[in-house]
Amino acid sequence: MSAESLLVTESLTKRFGGRCVVDGVSLEVNRGDVFGFLGPNGAGKSTTMRMILGLVRASSGTIRVAGIDVGRDRRAALAKVGAVVEGPAFYDHLSGWENLEIFTALGGGATRARMEEALEIVGLRGREGDPVDVYSTGMRQRLGIAQALLPHPEIILLDEPGNGLDPRGSLEIRALIRQLSTDHGLTIFLSSHLLHEVEQLCDRVAILDRGHLLYQGSVAGLLTRASYLRVVVESPAAAGRFLEGFEGVQVLYEETGSLTLRLSGVDPAWVNARLVEKGFRVQELRQVRESLENIFLRLTGGEREAAA
Ligand SMILES: Nc1ncnc2c1ncn2[C@@H]1O[C@H](COP(=O)(O)OP(=O)(O)O)[C@@H](O)[C@H]1O
Ligand SMILES: [Mg+2]
Repeated sequence: MSAESLLVTESLTKRFGGRCVVDGVSLEVNRGDVFGFLGPNGAGKSTTMRMILGLVRASSGTIRVAGIDVGRDRRAALAKVGAVVEGPAFYDHLSGWENLEIFTALGGGATRARMEEALEIVGLRGREGDPVDVYSTGMRQRLGIAQALLPHPEIILLDEPGNGLDPRGSLEIRALIRQLSTDHGLTIFLSSHLLHEVEQLCDRVAILDRGHLLYQGSVAGLLTRASYLRVVVESPAAAGRFLEGFEGVQVLYEETGSLTLRLSGVDPAWVNARLVEKGFRVQELRQVRESLENIFLRLTGGEREAAA
């Protein structure tokens, strides 16, 4: 754990009955991150978030917030955490203000000034007197964020903040999330099943699929780690057989005079060195960029489903 890390999970696991829905997930969210927790529906994102918030008991593994173990001292660990989980539920016939009053009373209270400040931040100032049932989905989402902001958290957990929003609403929520990060210094941990949402907002991502963490790191790193390499070489078939023996190298196909590889955790220079060492005459190495969309689909098995 680095000095910077604010939220850390270690081998976090959740079994429902005999079924493992979160399997050994180790996450590290650093102070200042806008961290995207990406995965298709059913991947285990909400369950992970609920474990972090102490709403669901972990089967095994640990969670620490600012170094404090959630399992041991939930109250202290979560004092600095604000959250909006699964489409915030409000009393629709009451106003935004009254809803804030009710929820804040449950959480130990907040001053009137802080409530006004939170409404200001999320852009609901002036609308707090309206009943929540006239609010748009985006406004409800923002009221949820206002509520999460009341106790001055350091980190905010947002479970699928873009869900159910029209393009304008999701644009507004993204702008708000960015503002929370840049203007208010908050660390953000948000989940989404939509790649473009995460791509536009986050500097770091973790990809979860069927309970397994497939990737964790920068968005840029994801692009470079998962690209194709076209190798122009004299005897592609033999070169392909040779390379297939190495971990991290997958031969996708051969064409006359060239070979296309998929590399993971291995770089082109390394491939070149192995080939030259073995006496293959390499004429050209060219990296072919895969789109982020493709990488995501491939990692999460979309390719298999699409083919089926
Ligand atoms: N309380 C529960 N009991 C049994 N299974 C559950 C429960 N909550 C979630 N699951 C299952 O766990 C898996 C992950 O769900 P979830 O965490 O909601 O995924 P996501 O948020 O990524 O869509 C799903 O297969 C879901 O059906
Ligand atoms: Mg979910």
